[in-house]
Amino acid sequence: MEEQLTTLKEKNQLAELGGGQKRIDAQHAKGKLTARERIQLLLDKNSFEETGKLVMHRSKDFGMENQRFLGDGVVTGYGKIDGRLVYVFSQDFTVFGGSLSETHAEKIVKVMDLAMQNGAPIIGLNDSGGARIQEGVNSLGGYADIFYRNTLASGVIPQISAIMGPCAGGAVYSPAITDFILMVENTSYMFVTGPNVVKTVTHEEVSSEDLGGASAHSAKSGVTHFSCINELDCLNRVKTLLSYIPQNNQEKAPRQPYTIQNEIRPALNQIIPSSANQPYDIREVINHTIDTDSFFEVHQNYAENIVVGFAHIAGRSIGIVANQPAYLAGVLDINSSKKGARFVRFCDSFNIPLLVFVDVPGFLPGTDQEWNGIINNGSKLLYAFCEATVPRVTVITRKAYGGAYDVMNSKHIGCDINYAWPSAEIAVMGAKGASEIIFRKEIKAAEKPDEILAQKEAEYQEKFANPYRAAARGFIDEVIEPEQTRLKLIKAFSMLKNKKEHLPNKKHGNIPL
Ligand code: HXC
Repeated sequence: MEEQLTTLKEKNQLAELGGGQKRIDAQHAKGKLTARERIQLLLDKNSFEETGKLVMHRSKDFGMENQRFLGDGVVTGYGKIDGRLVYVFSQDFTVFGGSLSETHAEKIVKVMDLAMQNGAPIIGLNDSGGARIQEGVNSLGGYADIFYRNTLASGVIPQISAIMGPCAGGAVYSPAITDFILMVENTSYMFVTGPNVVKTVTHEEVSSEDLGGASAHSAKSGVTHFSCINELDCLNRVKTLLSYIPQNNQEKAPRQPYTIQNEIRPALNQIIPSSANQPYDIREVINHTIDTDSFFEVHQNYAENIVVGFAHIAGRSIGIVANQPAYLAGVLDINSSKKGARFVRFCDSFNIPLLVFVDVPGFLPGTDQEWNGIINNGSKLLYAFCEATVPRVTVITRKAYGGAYDVMNSKHIGCDINYAWPSAEIAVMGAKGASEIIFRKEIKAAEKPDEILAQKEAEYQEKFANPYRAAARGFIDEVIEPEQTRLKLIKAFSMLKNKKEHLPNKKHGNIPL
């Protein structure tokens, strides 16, 4: 039908319609916006410039020559978000289920190349039935062209994937390579093999939502960083995310205007409970330290024993990694190590300084952790901190025990400025466990073992469970009152703003993946 249309105007109007009004209505009936509506909501008003609007597929098999739609199922182009350039592609489910043909892939590749050449983020709005089945290997090749570029662009420009419908099969691997994934609750899902294949192979019965919906991937697998209540929420979060990060790896993140005022925060003095084993929410510490309401948490529902996210401090963008004593006592385990490591590497790639709050009793013991590889997964976090060259500041609020002390951005692995609160306990382990080991014989031989244990525990506590020994060695730069934390951090990050550090020349390291 398109061939019979003569005027460009008519062709353009048809392209706006994607697969036609009926199919747009069907998309709306599923609670989903169209590809173009999403772009309009994402970008600054009237800033979108479209590329490849009149592109059509070249396939002739299975009667495809009679089914051609302008744009071929994806809207591509560039525009602005808060006045900053971004490239975008938005898959159009109303055309062949948003499936990826050779030409559909070529359009995406074109904007990815432009994004790389011009140093600006690429945002993918995914809503697709996967490989265009009628095109066979041409479609698979198109995916590979995208995967290849995702990999080359990694660490060069920010890549953000919003999943707003189906994303299945090998198609999941493009978002997986990007920096951040957002999913919309109830209308999006991601899986390598869908419920039917799962049933055939493993006899499990599971719905698409349970298998690969936003809640599964935000809480269980950690595949998605954000679970959004609807599409608008999703698009707004993309914008917020971008506000904390630079356009590319050669730039710094935008700075908010800020004038220094009274930066003492007495509320921080009240947060640490009197008993060392009592939990508290590390977000309270974070929120009293950073600029008001500036914490933008990433991966909120996954591995909650570590908290990561972006914030501003005196208008500067920073990445925060913090043990969470309110969940599993803030212990490090496989998932929290992976979550922390990935975030540290993103911040380091994009020149975002790191602030680390430490309250960690160690690594989680047990067969589950050991057999699933806490050794090499825990080392991911260690490795990520060790190779980070951005400004790095640590605040130890309470426990910093054992290997976890080293891992959590200690001075020894390259942290620039290390603070500790007077409540900090920097030791190989907690006083009770330590006393039970080193005074075992004495305790066993004693008439009243409990009394001796308590006495030894107090002795150990006095000697080691404080920040002063570490400070005497220079491993801690200063022991500060909690209320001074914000002021100290403002000064430290300002002092470190021109930090330059170069790693040894190498092709790339071999992070324990
Ligand atoms: C061509 C497709 C398509 C595809 C959907 N359509 N997927 N056309 N290739 N992959 C078409 C349908 O034929 C239909 O056309 C229209 O899109 C809408 O699809 P519906 O099935 O009506 O929509 P819905 O009920 O919402 O179901 C959506 C869906 C389902 C769950 C995505 O369409 C589906 O299962 N599609 C196939 C998914 C799949 O197996 N893809 C290949 C995965 S393997 P009409 O004209 O009837 O409206 C893969 C490999 C990638 O992607 C490898 C990369 C390395």
